[in-house]
Amino acid sequence: MSNSLPIGVFDSGLGGLTVVKALKGIMPCENIIYFGDTAHIPYGTKSGETVTHYSHQITGFLSEKDVKLVVVACNTASALALPEIEQTFDIPMIGVIAPGAQAAVDATKSGHIGVIGTISTISSGAYSLKIHNLNSDLTISGLACPLFVPLVEEGWTSGGVPKMIAETYLDHFKTNNVDTLILGCTHYPLLKKTIQSVLPPGVQLIDSSEAVSEAVAKLLHDKDKATNKDEDGTLTCYVTDMPQKFEELGRRFLGESILDVSLVHLDW
Ligand code: DGL
Repeated sequence: MSNSLPIGVFDSGLGGLTVVKALKGIMPCENIIYFGDTAHIPYGTKSGETVTHYSHQITGFLSEKDVKLVVVACNTASALALPEIEQTFDIPMIGVIAPGAQAAVDATKSGHIGVIGTISTISSGAYSLKIHNLNSDLTISGLACPLFVPLVEEGWTSGGVPKMIAETYLDHFKTNNVDTLILGCTHYPLLKKTIQSVLPPGVQLIDSSEAVSEAVAKLLHDKDKATNKDEDGTLTCYVTDMPQKFEELGRRFLGESILDVSLVHLDW
């Protein structure tokens, strides 16, 4: 396997671009292939079987592009599908849950960690399991915040409406001594300022996109698979619906143009 091969990253939509941004921040020379399954978003309200099927098809597509590693930049797919698809494909895979859980365990002082995510991620209990494997004395409070994903997909990340929705959901964390809150959905970092503004002072947000990009850098380094190039890497995107909208909103979120977005139809 050559070091110059791309990293594959996938999510149900735009949210995984928060992971791309973090990856580009610490590994600017890596080529990245991004897959946004915009035809099937949201994953967070779907069954494990359905999300596993989509994740399987996408991983197959990425492996045909010869990626050296697949980053499951979606908490829902990491929670519901990763354990199965990593058995199926002979390719290193990394999800967002383990790095986010580790970062939260390292950060908490009160011993009470909050987790927000999609309905499927929270009801899977995947974060609680990972956190308790690291430290069984910690207390965990999970909360599904399903309206955050459509807000992000509409590009509506600040102002009165997102703030009111965040206040209503996160009221839950005002009185329970949570000092560390995991943004357990890759869409949520785009609402970070709004979320932080409605929490009690001192609550630390754990951005799973930052945590996973550090884990990816370490894995590539340990396997001697980091690129040797010293020029900027490329970003090639594939989406299953609405490439124009993805390009426009993606440009805002990434802070740079996404030049290469193709519409792709997989054999669902
Ligand atoms: N970005 C995905 C996640 O991290 C979820 C969005 C969705 O519901 O599709 O869970």
